[in-house]
Amino acid sequence: MAKTKQAAARSSPRPWPFLALGLWLGSGGTGFRAPAPASVSRVAAAVQQSEAQALFASLCAACHGSVGAGDGPAAAALRPRPASFKDSLFQVGRTDEQLAAAIKGGKPPMPAFAQQLTPVQIRALVTYIRAFGPPRRKP
Ligand code: HEC
Repeated sequence: MAKTKQAAARSSPRPWPFLALGLWLGSGGTGFRAPAPASVSRVAAAVQQSEAQALFASLCAACHGSVGAGDGPAAAALRPRPASFKDSLFQVGRTDEQLAAAIKGGKPPMPAFAQQLTPVQIRALVTYIRAFGPPRRKP
């Protein structure tokens, strides 16, 4: 289950080819009218989310469940059990920094992932975990 940083990098899509394609299209490579630059960063964000989805499925879902409900196959044996990311009290009770710190440093019995994941991957996972929760209202 433990994947190295290199393995994760190899198996997950990188944004650069998409960005390069976007820039090439933007420069009129095909004569095709390019989408506005804003949609290039939207593509990059989408690539990051699909990477986060793949990382979550391979590194986290065994405990946290495939949709973050805290009910992965390994969860029953854990004390404490992982919380459900779908729970609004879980979501409002933690800042993004706290979620990132837990992923980086671990929270027993959860292992630390600082050696396996880059800061960008950890940030993408935080965004991914937020998406399990109820839609957040703007203050
Ligand atoms: C071995 C099982 C296991 C794995 C694998 C695991 N977790 Fe956890 N995780 C837990 C448990 C158990 C908790 C609850 C710990 C507690 O409340 O003390 C937890 C808590 C968390 C929390 C909440 C921390 C908080 O503020 O309470 C986050 C966020 C989290 N995990 C993310 C992840 C991500 C992302 C991954 C994959 C990269 C992952 N976990 C992999 C078991 C696991």
